[in-house]
Amino acid sequence: MKTTKPQTGKTPPHKRAAKQLTCDDVLIVGGGGREHAIAYALGKSDRVGRIYAAPGNAGMGVEQVDISATDVDAIVEYVKAHKNIKMTIVAPDDPLSLGMVDRLAACGLRAFGPTRAAARLEWSKAYAKDFMKKYGIPTAEYETFTDADAAKAYINSIDFNVVVKADGLALGKGVIVCEDKAQALIAVDEIMRDKKFGAAGNALVVERFLKGFEVSLLAFVDGEHYSLMPTSCDHKRALDGDKGLNTGGMGAYSPCPAFTAGMTEFTRRHIVEPTVKGMIAEGAPFKGVLYFGLMVDGDDIRVLEYNARFGDPETQSVLPLLKSDIYEIFGAVIDGTLDTLDIEWSDKKSINVVLASGGYPEAYKKGCHITQGELDDGVRVFYAGVKSNGHGLVTSGGRVLCVQTEADSFAEAKKRVYDNIDKIGFDDCFYRRDIGSKL
Ligand code: AMP
Ligand code: GLY
Repeated sequence: MKTTKPQTGKTPPHKRAAKQLTCDDVLIVGGGGREHAIAYALGKSDRVGRIYAAPGNAGMGVEQVDISATDVDAIVEYVKAHKNIKMTIVAPDDPLSLGMVDRLAACGLRAFGPTRAAARLEWSKAYAKDFMKKYGIPTAEYETFTDADAAKAYINSIDFNVVVKADGLALGKGVIVCEDKAQALIAVDEIMRDKKFGAAGNALVVERFLKGFEVSLLAFVDGEHYSLMPTSCDHKRALDGDKGLNTGGMGAYSPCPAFTAGMTEFTRRHIVEPTVKGMIAEGAPFKGVLYFGLMVDGDDIRVLEYNARFGDPETQSVLPLLKSDIYEIFGAVIDGTLDTLDIEWSDKKSINVVLASGGYPEAYKKGCHITQGELDDGVRVFYAGVKSNGHGLVTSGGRVLCVQTEADSFAEAKKRVYDNIDKIGFDDCFYRRDIGSKL
């Protein structure tokens, strides 16, 4: 085993240097595994020169820019000052909700991602639910409250289990799935009285608990046209068998075989198209990646949530399947010309498994050395919570990295991923051994 050195990226340095003369440089805002997967996809484009990431991470093999992903002013100034950067890709939810894309666009800079108004589908669950009701998009029955007593009175008046959701962004944690009425009443107090999720809990949504299986469906949307990506499935719980606490996601696979072509057709007609058209009608056309979190129960398909961006860790499984040039797709989304592209995907089966720091999603150690042997061809590491200590990579976050590959069958992909995980290590590392076990 050797100590990892920061990745240098897929493109050999001589090729990247030559490309800089004729190609566009790009900036990715964000610094997790999802952003590494976006950088990997961009790195395959002949039209992309240097890739910058703010703040990025030391494993991405790109130029790190020392600006936080939520510092809108500093990002705008940086892009204005670096004329070589021809496109900024805003990947995380927070800067989108802060209007980073609007600010860049107002300065005449090309930015990939929705405006603040369009990203509201993610940053306000109450808005998303009202939007779905207005446009007849199937979702769980719900009520929205700004008053804790009214929410509790509603919970006491119904005879079904509920999920209580803080209205705003809460680092993916603002959703409390309740097993009974007593838990739901406590959830209301935690969100509204104790402000467990801060201002995100000024309003909340109480909605019917839905059973079934979950699928993530992502689409490129240019305001008017859309193009679906292969489906994917996240694994949110920390431990095998979907036990333990909810996390940011412990692994994913793509596509989801249980989601049939008929289900995709239904979803197109009853969910994707009305959403795209609805946002035009709202005066907030959606441009970027729109993520539909779906619950499937037999023929019944409903939207659990919208995200206004690529999902993490779904993206780390989905984007390696993309055969077309992602830079061209991003450009077409910005220009509203997605209908002119024929986007191609591999029909291979992709899987990624997250290696996390012991204790995550609660307290965990940082600064542990990451060792990594030679991985098999076609097996990739997308880094997330890592930094360089001058000698190699050390852990700096809960989700440290994920190992991904694609193959002709899921069985083969799974075997290769798990065989290669054994070649990577750091103190207290843990991962789920059952990613894709239901396939
Ligand atoms: P959300 O951020 O709205 O997707 O919620 C996070 C997770 O909570 C989802 O991925 C589901 O696992 C679960 N969840 C959310 N809403 C519901 C619901 N109405 N019924 C069952 N589970 C839900
Ligand atoms: N994987 C779920 C999310 O990105 O929000």
